[in-house]
Amino acid sequence: MVSTTWGRLAARALFYMSIHRLGHAANDAPYAENAELAAKVLQDWFKPQTGGWSTGGWWQNANILTVLTDWALLEGPNQHVNVTDIAATTFVNAQKENVQIGKRHRADEQMASSRKHTRTTESGYPKFINTFYDDEGWWALAWIRSYDLTKKIEYLSMAESIFDDMRTGADNVCGGGILWNKTMRYKAAIANELYLTVAASLANRVQGSKDHYLQIAREQWVWFKKSGLINKDNLINDGLNSTTCLNNNETTWSYNQGVILGGLVELSKAAGNDSYLSPAVDIAEAAIASLQDEDGILHEADHCDIRADCGEDGPQFKGIFIRNLHYLYKAVPNEKFAMTIKKNADSIWAKGRDPKTNRLGLSWVGKPEAGIGPTAKTHSSAMDALVAAMGAVAGSK
Ligand SMILES: *[C@@H]1O[C@H](CO)[C@@H](O)[C@H](O)[C@H]1NC(C)=O
Ligand SMILES: *[C@@H]1O[C@H](CO)[C@@H](O)[C@H](O)[C@H]1NC(C)=O
Ligand SMILES: *[C@@H]1O[C@H](CO)[C@@H](O)[C@H](O)[C@H]1NC(C)=O
Ligand SMILES: *[C@@H]1O[C@H](CO)[C@@H](O)[C@H](O)[C@H]1NC(C)=O
Ligand SMILES: *[C@@H]1O[C@H](CO)[C@@H](O)[C@H](O)[C@H]1NC(C)=O
Repeated sequence: MVSTTWGRLAARALFYMSIHRLGHAANDAPYAENAELAAKVLQDWFKPQTGGWSTGGWWQNANILTVLTDWALLEGPNQHVNVTDIAATTFVNAQKENVQIGKRHRADEQMASSRKHTRTTESGYPKFINTFYDDEGWWALAWIRSYDLTKKIEYLSMAESIFDDMRTGADNVCGGGILWNKTMRYKAAIANELYLTVAASLANRVQGSKDHYLQIAREQWVWFKKSGLINKDNLINDGLNSTTCLNNNETTWSYNQGVILGGLVELSKAAGNDSYLSPAVDIAEAAIASLQDEDGILHEADHCDIRADCGEDGPQFKGIFIRNLHYLYKAVPNEKFAMTIKKNADSIWAKGRDPKTNRLGLSWVGKPEAGIGPTAKTHSSAMDALVAAMGAVAGSK
């Protein structure tokens, strides 16, 4: 069945290929073409001297590098956007640069939910270590992906040293896991999903230390599963109340339904045990059902994308979810996952893109100029969906 949207997209893809390049096989167009254009546009924000992207942010830049490396792994060498080169520049310059970070602050445990920030200027973070364990986790994953792309051992070593610092956050508040940051007892879902994911990813890559990392990842999952973070609907809330250690019933942010999927895929591979994939499928199905609208397009859990106001942190969450849905799809080729990925990539290109600049906005159903307009955060997040679609199409051949 050919819908009008498909017809339009196909026509555009043909036009595009004719003026643009013929490098890709027809079966992965238009996603490969769209992802390549998105990568080029993203680089308008890149500042080599800082190793970061303006309108990005400290942890957000780690995710920008991750989507670029995921794209480069699918794309192969590209003469317009050289991700090997970008990773090398970021590796050296981001650590030493003075960065503007959104300093999260709040009086209670709902920090990750409230997304309130004051802007402060801080010096760069040598070795990608700062006081927030989730920020560290994003950079560890960025260097793991950069290692996958380049096989440069210094990137893998950096991920290991970042992980060593994350381990200093492990303690027995609520029976296990790692803390939110270096001064607060909060057990947040995101830091703990990243901890599992980094450990399992290192188990699959670091020769000679597999058992060490695998054991940490396994124990982390045993704790995570029974911690109460996963609610009765198979969705993951923001964190645990540190007095009662019960699920705090805070927002089920899309990225909290995402990182765990990639983590369980890595864990099942490291352990040689597919049983870890079944909870991932349950979470992914619950998340899609809860986050999608009637057309199958994903929205942030609190609909901040529809209100065009997701603060400093929220704009990248949906991209992180769909990136990890793609990782799960590669391990469990469930057509429902591919449909979600492709529909969202189509909607972004048709409705979420500024046709003049090709910048991609916060909402995946339209008005790319709404709120503060497309930024490196919103653009890279939408690019995650384009890259996921490129991979899903290539994977279903
Ligand atoms: C990318 O940059 C690296 C140097 O950082 C270079 O060795 C490589 O040839 C470049 N690749 C392409 C496709 O231009
Ligand atoms: C940890 O988070 C709390 C709550 O937002 C914040 O007040 C505190 O400054 C953070 N600690 C560090 C060391 O960043
Ligand atoms: C944690 O739970 C206690 C007991 O239900 C409640 O009084 C408190 O407000 C909760 N803390 C937060 C930050 O939600
Ligand atoms: C969360 O909601 C459940 C019921 O939906 C309730 O039993 C539990 O006490 C709530 N937890 C907190 C921390 O409010
Ligand atoms: C696979 O993992 C599950 C869950 O941890 C465990 O119950 C099962 O024994 C494992 N199977 C093998 C063959 O190790």
